[in-house]
Amino acid sequence: METKKTIFSGIQPTAVFTLGNFLGAIKNWGALQDSFDCVYSIVDMHAITVRQDAAKLREQTLKSYALTMACGIDPEKSALFIQSHNPHHAEMNWILSCNTQFGELSRMTQFKDKSEKHPDDINAGLFTYPVLMAGDILLYQADLVPIGIDQKQHLELARNVAERFNFRYGDFFTVPEPYIGETGAKIMSLQDPTKKMSKSDDNPNASVYILDDRNSIINKFKRAVTDSETEVRFDAEKKPGISNLMTIFSACTGKSFDEIEKTFSGHGYGDFKSAVGETVADCLKPIQDKYNSFIKDRDYLKNCYTEGLKKAMKISGKTLSKAYRKVGFVDKP
Ligand code: TRP
Repeated sequence: METKKTIFSGIQPTAVFTLGNFLGAIKNWGALQDSFDCVYSIVDMHAITVRQDAAKLREQTLKSYALTMACGIDPEKSALFIQSHNPHHAEMNWILSCNTQFGELSRMTQFKDKSEKHPDDINAGLFTYPVLMAGDILLYQADLVPIGIDQKQHLELARNVAERFNFRYGDFFTVPEPYIGETGAKIMSLQDPTKKMSKSDDNPNASVYILDDRNSIINKFKRAVTDSETEVRFDAEKKPGISNLMTIFSACTGKSFDEIEKTFSGHGYGDFKSAVGETVADCLKPIQDKYNSFIKDRDYLKNCYTEGLKKAMKISGKTLSKAYRKVGFVDKP
């Protein structure tokens, strides 16, 4: 029997996903489920490295779980679980912490950025965040990790930690590779198309959220910043706004840039923006319908994350007990 490669990815439950998260990442996760053994986690333990309101985090974690399913992750095919439910992550974190250098963590740009953003709460968890993330990946012996460019340095650290452990204790961890999807579109802010669309943008018109209603979606696209020309043409450098809208339209419809240029030639930006808004609203509608039915059915959700946890722990448990042996802990009685 041919063994499938393993994929691991994690998503923070801190806010509703944006259209950028969906088209750039989560949409691909679903497509990977048939060719790979997929393990996906809602990483609430990472979320508390910055201050969270407890009630909100709890609710947001369940919402993210439901939303991930609505976006096409099938809990029957993949192991989809909530990180804090699996104690192996905290346990592996300690082993890996003892195999990670202070110096390498100090070089993480995300740590530096977040420390600047939260100068009153530079906690140890924020510093060791990449170690927890390395554990997520290594516990499942993942071959591939779909990530955005902002997580590349963290994945590089996970690789270094795995290699160091393997060198010290004998080959053990699979050294993970980044998985760069074919269709993973990079979606930019609608208000500043030179900046990535972000969950945490202060300008509500900059990001389209997966659960936005039809009217707000259409209005956000109407207000999208473009340029002073009139021609719908792809030119990421000179026309970043229009190019971003074309990328979104193409990702939703499967149409090529050529086709889009032909369809909208002579139409001007107004028509095009409306068409993109309508198309995105249509594209998100089935996801929103599914989300609404999942989030109402708490028993079903619980059943899914319980089963997901069982699948995850079966794999992570094996890795953890082997790692405990490797470092010299006495077998648990
Ligand atoms: N740090 C990732 C992010 O903010 C989330 C994450 C946690 C993750 N653990 C992971 C991503 C493991 C990939 C693999 O996007």
